[in-house]
Amino acid sequence: MRVLGIETSCDETAVALVETNPWSTDILSQVVSSQIELHRPYGGVVPEMATREHLRNLPLLVPQVLKDLNLGLDSIDAVAATEGPGLASSLLIGHSYARAMAVALSKPMIGVNHLEGHLYSPFFASRRTVEFPFVGLIASGGHTLLVHALGWDRYIKLGSTVDDAAGEAFDKVAKLLGLPYPGGPEIERVAIKGNPEAFGLPRSFPERDNLNFSFSGLKTAVRFFYEKSAPMQPDPVWSYDLCASFQKAVVDVLVRKSIQAVAQARVDRLAVSGGVLCNKMLRDELEFACYEAGIDLIVAEPAFCTDNAGMIAGAAAEKMAAGIKPRCGDDINPNLNLFAPEPQGDMARGLTAAIKLKNRQTEQVPQQSSVPYPGEVEVW
Ligand code: KG4
Ligand code: ZN
Repeated sequence: MRVLGIETSCDETAVALVETNPWSTDILSQVVSSQIELHRPYGGVVPEMATREHLRNLPLLVPQVLKDLNLGLDSIDAVAATEGPGLASSLLIGHSYARAMAVALSKPMIGVNHLEGHLYSPFFASRRTVEFPFVGLIASGGHTLLVHALGWDRYIKLGSTVDDAAGEAFDKVAKLLGLPYPGGPEIERVAIKGNPEAFGLPRSFPERDNLNFSFSGLKTAVRFFYEKSAPMQPDPVWSYDLCASFQKAVVDVLVRKSIQAVAQARVDRLAVSGGVLCNKMLRDELEFACYEAGIDLIVAEPAFCTDNAGMIAGAAAEKMAAGIKPRCGDDINPNLNLFAPEPQGDMARGLTAAIKLKNRQTEQVPQQSSVPYPGEVEVW
């Protein structure tokens, strides 16, 4: 089965064709048109410009993917597009294009949750089929999320940011220091020259059982040191140190909480993705911490960490192959949730009672995890 995927949730126009076979899902071709240069002068994504760019790019990229493979439209079995979350106007372009294609070709149209695509992309990029259960870390410009993935469409939120996303913090700190957008790669470039221990920056929610993130205090601390240091020190070395210390603080928190999440969920697999996972220090530290804790780390190559269409087409194809009825993709939802809505009233009380009962039952059964529990792992 071949699925054409379209991703336009933010500032990347991406199209990919994937093919499922009994062993894996393979990417046949992918093209990504990044709009970074377009938005750079504005210090962030300008939604209207992104929309116009998607509109210009899509009619060029779809034929290009097929031409690269010498295939015609008749080789497509289904069309998938990002349904949400994302920028409404950007989502609408990709989604409408995909719907029109599906109607014209009389093929199914599948709406995919962008976050589910990210969760799945490390497997896909490593040419592995999805293996549940696992803990997923998504760290991008819009999200910082820890998810316990039990199966397709069965996700439990373990933690998320209460303010800025990790990538957003990189972008805002870079702006403060006069570095261009997007800030992540720029901070990483400067941080190589600095000392990560030079500034004592705060780490959010140090409690072991709290898997939420907060980056606004860290951002404020960077501002404080910047305003103190900038007028007094003409030598820019302090700014290299500040970048290195900031990067280290974000990496420490992401690594520590991911390892804690794996222990709390009692699994032994961690899949990580999102633009921030392009960061070399984060990748290295995750690899080291997972090796120490005996966790199977599945990390996508950088091209599959940032937004791409392979993850959208791949998630749709794997779900169909697994016999999951795909979302029919009638409309976009900029606030699309990955998790079932929180139960209310009697249902909530019933669920709380069920969880208590389940916990009591599992307490009696010895757990089969090789991963240490929170309190037994120390990765600082
Ligand atoms: O996943 P992504 O491409 O788009 C969103 O869905 O948001 O992530 C973009 C984010 C930006 O905030 C960017 O600064 C950050 O990922 N980023 C990085 C690096 N490369 C991209 N952050 C830290 N280090 C990097 N090397
Ligand atoms: Zn994304």
